Amino acid sequence: MRFETCLSSAGLLLASCFAYDQPVERVWIEQRQSYEEGLLSAEIEGLEEVGEGVTNPTRVTLKHDGTVFYAIYKPLKRGRQRGYWESYQAEVAAYALDKMLRLDMVPPTVVRRVNGNLGSLQLWVEGCDTYKRLQPKVPQTPQFSWQISRMKMFDNLIYNEDRNAGNFLLDEAWNVILIDHSRAFLDRKKLMKEETKLPSQYDRKLVEQLKSLSLDQLELELEDLLVGGQIKSILVRRDQILEHMDKLVEERGSGQVLFN
Ligand SMILES: Nc1ncnc2c1ncn2[C@@H]1O[C@H](COP(=O)(O)OP(=O)(O)O)[C@@H](O)[C@H]1O
Ligand SMILES: [Mg+2]
Repeated sequence: MRFETCLSSAGLLLASCFAYDQPVERVWIEQRQSYEEGLLSAEIEGLEEVGEGVTNPTRVTLKHDGTVFYAIYKPLKRGRQRGYWESYQAEVAAYALDKMLRLDMVPPTVVRRVNGNLGSLQLWVEGCDTYKRLQPKVPQTPQFSWQISRMKMFDNLIYNEDRNAGNFLLDEAWNVILIDHSRAFLDRKKLMKEETKLPSQYDRKLVEQLKSLSLDQLELELEDLLVGGQIKSILVRRDQILEHMDKLVEERGSGQVLFN
């Protein structure tokens, strides 16, 4: 299946067509600004229930310069709901941090008011399905393991305990796409409980990005989205992830632990 998306610098010009021969790409990566602007300013043409997920999200039809595209909208008020802390701001913060780390796995997500209520609006990535449904077909390649290791590192950093098989997608090229971060960014100064939630291998480039995160930079990008100690906790967990990695390197050698 192929999903072609064209974006001009003048604005969003999405042209989509499907065929069954070429891989789908993470179309937003080279065109972030256009996608973000499109999500913020496109006309809202329709709303429907996604019909999946626990927070009852809405699929929004958007139109920009005559082109129709879709997004997922979650007007989740900050607070404890159904036994979990969640917020729409956490969805947007996950995208902001993905950009800072050059992770490139979270689709563009903005804050937008829909029918009077602020919420997160995230690009609906076409041609994808959940790992839950695709699992038997997914090729267990080094490329796939590399992506899972990066995902685990990110989840530990943002304290995301909700990464079940329904909360990441795969596209036609088997790119892993991370969704559903509304329960992330808990103000916890410890890593998630199970050791197994940390990766046993680490992507060198991502490690460098992780090391370069600073409180100033995080506050600049996330201060409108996170509250209390949530931002400082990211750095505490960052240090713990790096400690864990250093310990593994000591035990097994860098060749077994770090990869490109
Ligand atoms: N950005 C997206 N692109 C494509 N499909 C998505 C996207 N976000 C969510 N979905 C689909 O919608 C479902 C519900 O979304 P999710 O964010 O997991 O909601 P909930 O918080 O209610 O669990 C997902 O399992 C997936 O099938
Ligand atoms: Mg979900």
